[in-house]
Amino acid sequence: MEKKAIALAQPGLFVEGAVAGHSLEWTLSGDPREALAALATLDPAGAIIGIGAPLVAALERRVDGLRPFPEIAGSITMPSTQNALWAYVMDATPGEAFARAESLERQLRGPFALVESLPLFRYRDGRDLTGYKDGTANPEGDDAAATALIADGARAGGSFALVQRYVHYRSRFSRLSEAERDDVIGRRYADNEEMEEAPETSHVRRTDQEGYDEPAFMVRRSMPWGDLRTHGLQFVAFVNDLDIVERVLHRMCGLIDGRTDALLRFTAAETGGYYYCPPMADGRLDLSGLI
Ligand code: HEM
Repeated sequence: MEKKAIALAQPGLFVEGAVAGHSLEWTLSGDPREALAALATLDPAGAIIGIGAPLVAALERRVDGLRPFPEIAGSITMPSTQNALWAYVMDATPGEAFARAESLERQLRGPFALVESLPLFRYRDGRDLTGYKDGTANPEGDDAAATALIADGARAGGSFALVQRYVHYRSRFSRLSEAERDDVIGRRYADNEEMEEAPETSHVRRTDQEGYDEPAFMVRRSMPWGDLRTHGLQFVAFVNDLDIVERVLHRMCGLIDGRTDALLRFTAAETGGYYYCPPMADGRLDLSGLI
């Protein structure tokens, strides 16, 4: 991976271990040219900003490799709720994450209308609300950069994001024994080790980044959301090619070999979008990749 691409990337892409976050989505509500002007002057202040296909289409421009998120309809259906713009704030405290999200909303109000505003938090030592540690098998360092970033060309340092809000049926999951829960995830809760004999339908086997003909590496930066009544995971993954995440979603939903990810009995996608995260230039988004 060229050092140039890493230097150009939005810095938030490589933030790990944030304590609090906020995920925001907007539709286009004004003149697309005003929307572009607002984005060109926006101070992202460390948040990750992603542009959706509806905005690119309204501008009559193109971003190679970006498309609207398609509904994934297998034995389980994942909906498409594609929006024009997405921002992902990760911060040290809930108060700072809230203030940063509010500042973004204020800067974008007018050409954009806020339709999703979801506070996020770190659960224990980076666990999903199922109790299992999330992100263990993520690529690290240069591998993370090579996985997430577009290497060269006009969009060098840019990335593509898959964003899905999942709602958990946690009481259903907690009724399983620990061994049954391990079989659903494919890692042992007790020591976070991958199980040698994990079932084919376990989440880790369905999403195995190296275990299929075409490797499917991605950089996951998901965070939990919610309260005691309704809660789940804001799933966020960065790749340099959206086909990678789409292949994995097809595997999870049983579209490749008829086997459905066991985890999807205990959680369901409520939203789904793809976003292009442009590189930076002089502290602002570099929008020259929209051609
Ligand atoms: C609510 C939804 C989800 C939950 C709770 C969840 C949780 C987990 C957990 C606990 C692990 C094992 C530890 C780790 O390596 O991080 C894992 C692994 C993984 N998950 Fe998920 N996940 C969810 C959705 C997804 C989705 C939608 C994708 C892909 C689009 C995905 C891709 C992966 C990958 C690539 C791995 C690593 C597999 C490997 O070992 O190579 N996950 N997930």
